[in-house]
Amino acid sequence: MALQIQLASGDATSVASDVLIIAVCETAVAAHPAVVAADKAFGGTLLEHVKALEFEGKLDQTLDLPPLGQLKAKKLVLLGLGKKAELGPARLRASLAAAVRNNAGSTTRTLQLVLPEADFDFRTVGEAVALGAYRFTKYFTGERRPKAELGKISLHLARGNASAADKKALDLGVAIADAVAIARDAVNEPPNVLTPEALAEVARGIARKHKLKIKVLDKKGILAAGMNLHYAVGQGSENEPRFIHLSYVPKKKSKKIAFVGKGITFDSGGLCIKPAAGMGEMKSDMGGAAAVLGLIAAVATVRPDVEVHAIVGAAENMPDGAAYRPADVFTSLDGKTVEIINTDAEGRLVLADALTYATRLKPDIIVDAATLTGAALVALGKTCSAFYATDDDVARALEAAARDAGEAFWRMPLLEELGEQLKSDVADLKHTADRWGGSISAALFLREFVGKFPWIHCDVAGPVLADRPKGMYPKGGTGHPVLTFLSFVEQAGRKTK
Ligand code: BES
Ligand code: MN
Ligand code: ZN
Repeated sequence: MALQIQLASGDATSVASDVLIIAVCETAVAAHPAVVAADKAFGGTLLEHVKALEFEGKLDQTLDLPPLGQLKAKKLVLLGLGKKAELGPARLRASLAAAVRNNAGSTTRTLQLVLPEADFDFRTVGEAVALGAYRFTKYFTGERRPKAELGKISLHLARGNASAADKKALDLGVAIADAVAIARDAVNEPPNVLTPEALAEVARGIARKHKLKIKVLDKKGILAAGMNLHYAVGQGSENEPRFIHLSYVPKKKSKKIAFVGKGITFDSGGLCIKPAAGMGEMKSDMGGAAAVLGLIAAVATVRPDVEVHAIVGAAENMPDGAAYRPADVFTSLDGKTVEIINTDAEGRLVLADALTYATRLKPDIIVDAATLTGAALVALGKTCSAFYATDDDVARALEAAARDAGEAFWRMPLLEELGEQLKSDVADLKHTADRWGGSISAALFLREFVGKFPWIHCDVAGPVLADRPKGMYPKGGTGHPVLTFLSFVEQAGRKTK
């Protein structure tokens, strides 16, 4: 059964459910009407208890209470949201999503959430609860199958009734979270299932649902188009490569943005094979592609006046008799010759041809997302993306979008000095440089293929796959950076209006 997320009116404490969550701001606990109603049901003991346990509604503070027959809900949770003045959309989204995730256990079928007495947009609430309810359980059987599935989330305002506009905003938020779930699912799928063709099928599904234009090239088509770098990376795998291009073209368009995603469905390293430990994580090496596909689904839902392209280079990097090798030389789509140094630096090759393809659309901005380097993880940790920009204005716009989305990004420098290491003795370019500054030199390599177009490169190697749940992200595929990109697109649409 699909999850229903709906607005409810009336006293939340008098309705039966598995879990009742009351979200409260700091110092406003005792004044929240639902807390007052629950306290009444407990004969005045709830607020005493809240005080004794020093629950003040601080950010991330929670209090789980058994209603002991005094409420119709089977479990009561007080959720602290911190100071009202500091409760922006990013904080609200993270807190509500975590609360839903933490309380949507294997026995929870119905959940009620009473919202705080604060200003917020129902779109944020819709995004939050749907992101929090996300699960990836399709491969569990028998005992491991969840006993219950969360079927209904009812949302209550602290006071008064929600409007028709609130309902519309809520539904939009839920639809956006569904688009984020496309990215999460794709990362979570095992690599024997999510092959380049399966990724193309995900794209076709999005195109069908939203009536978007789509072009998919198979192995032969990639070669015929002249994407020799992309072709080279895919040539060592039985699962043949795909090139994917989806477009959203509104009637009124102010700007054109091309998003490019790295879609390596599994990165074994190729002939320069990776060590066994941690190799399984390389199923997430299509995280950039997943985000770009999730983004265009979200864009098609929100329908801004911005033309958006989602371009994906999909391939599997494997070692076999046909695999590409160190010292090979290939000619890129834009005519540059590239000497292969390490077959594990496959992402930048696939991206180089996809970026050249993007320049041919003559966009206002090119943005790429790629799980490109381990060096980005070393620099910024697993939860923050490194980004590079050739233009300060677009860099600031990305920073603003990330803040809005509540996703972590840090701008890195395009240090010209490292570019010297990309000179080859036999070809125009070497495709890797020294180990030191590896994320920077990878970005410098990509820059060779974006022409004069303002460009942002996001090295999302860490945040697309989480080791532990946090805020709006579950463990596993996170959907990073779909919401940042969506905010970036919406911002571009507003600016030119
Ligand atoms: N997909 C990896 C980067 C990566 C590493 C992503 C860890 C997520 C977690 C990429 O294809 C890769 O192997 N990069 C090499 C480049 C090197 C050979 C120049 C790396 O970072 O070691
Ligand atoms: Mn690699
Ligand atoms: Zn890779």
